[in-house]
Amino acid sequence: MIRKIIFNVISILLLAIIALALFIEFSWNKTYDWPGPSLQSSTDSAVIAKGKYLVHGPAHCVSCHVSGFDALVAGDEGKEVPLSGGIQFPMGPLGNLYTPNLTPDKTTGIGRYTDEQLFRMMRHSVKPNGTGSLSLLMPFNRMADDDLVAIVSYLRSMAPVSNPVPEPSWTMMGKAVRVFTPTFKPIKDPVAPKQAPAMAATVERGEYLARYVANCVGCHTQRDPMTYEATGPEFAGGMEFEPWPQLHNYLKVDPELWLRTPNLTPDPNSAFARFKTPEAFVERFRKGRIISYSAMDWGPFSRMSDEDIKALWMYLNSLPPVKKDVGEIVFKKAQQ
Ligand code: HEC
Ligand code: HEC
Repeated sequence: MIRKIIFNVISILLLAIIALALFIEFSWNKTYDWPGPSLQSSTDSAVIAKGKYLVHGPAHCVSCHVSGFDALVAGDEGKEVPLSGGIQFPMGPLGNLYTPNLTPDKTTGIGRYTDEQLFRMMRHSVKPNGTGSLSLLMPFNRMADDDLVAIVSYLRSMAPVSNPVPEPSWTMMGKAVRVFTPTFKPIKDPVAPKQAPAMAATVERGEYLARYVANCVGCHTQRDPMTYEATGPEFAGGMEFEPWPQLHNYLKVDPELWLRTPNLTPDPNSAFARFKTPEAFVERFRKGRIISYSAMDWGPFSRMSDEDIKALWMYLNSLPPVKKDVGEIVFKKAQQ
């Protein structure tokens, strides 16, 4: 009798596991037939200039869509490196991503895609081939229509570079996370403004940049290390960055050094509170990267306009202060 019950329980468990594995295998890479926003790229030189500012500045596409570490460092330092993609994004146990080629090459770059496919990727995180991408990776879903147009117009104006990039590879665990975690899914109905707030030192412009363009909120909020769901108050810091062994090696820094984001709310003991005025914030950003391997996109952000950096200060200064001591910014994990 007992043996029979145990047998039945095990059979049911096995069936459930098989059903789950099949469900994941069939749904992890499903396609979405959502239309993209009806926007059109432009050849107007002022629109292209604005796109260039965003791509190499606050929207920091240049931090990821490059071919390797040499280009990553050169781009951070302000050289105009081609956005030909190819760098590998290791995601630990979840798999590997590769950044696609954003130059207008007709066989390996965005020359293959319609405006609608590109705008859909930016607004909904649906890739040009219809499969879903991770909304947490490029969280531009609520970027304004006019900024999206500027960015795509600039990409279309760049010199084409032929560079084939590998497809992403996902492990079983990565596929499961994609199926069950909202931050790994496309976003159907984001509410985005038609026009970005004008570039000026206003709270409104600062909030727009911090949330929808520069993604300060993405990194400066404590998150679950597997799913990236927020586990602490927004902007109060505490997210941990695992060493990226290849990058640490390339930069010749100790491959055991982790980083943690500081608190950007105006609590008297926060890292943000050290910057008493918008001018002091501008001064810090102009210095750029101090920690060579920092995950923060210091290079592109150091090239933001005075108005935009001041706007960020105004917005952060308007947030409710959160008392949160995140601990050391640079640290090592205790040996197991
Ligand atoms: C944090 C790194 C990162 C940043 C910043 C970033 N991207 Fe991406 N992007 C990626 C990765 C990785 C992929 C591949 C995603 C996948 O395979 O699901 C991608 C995919 C894309 C695609 C789809 C292309 C294709 O062929 O499938 C487009 C278009 C794109 N990015 C444009 C941009 C633009 C424009 C910006 C700046 C506004 C930007 N990205 C900023 C990492 C980044
Ligand atoms: C990709 C992740 C990431 C993004 C995006 C990001 N940060 Fe950071 N930030 C970090 C990390 C990690 C540190 C700690 C290491 C360092 O100081 O570079 C940091 C440090 C800081 C510091 C402390 C600097 C100092 O000298 O002590 C400030 C201020 C800051 N970030 C503001 C911002 C603002 C404003 C934005 C949006 C414009 C932003 N960050 C976007 C990861 C990020």
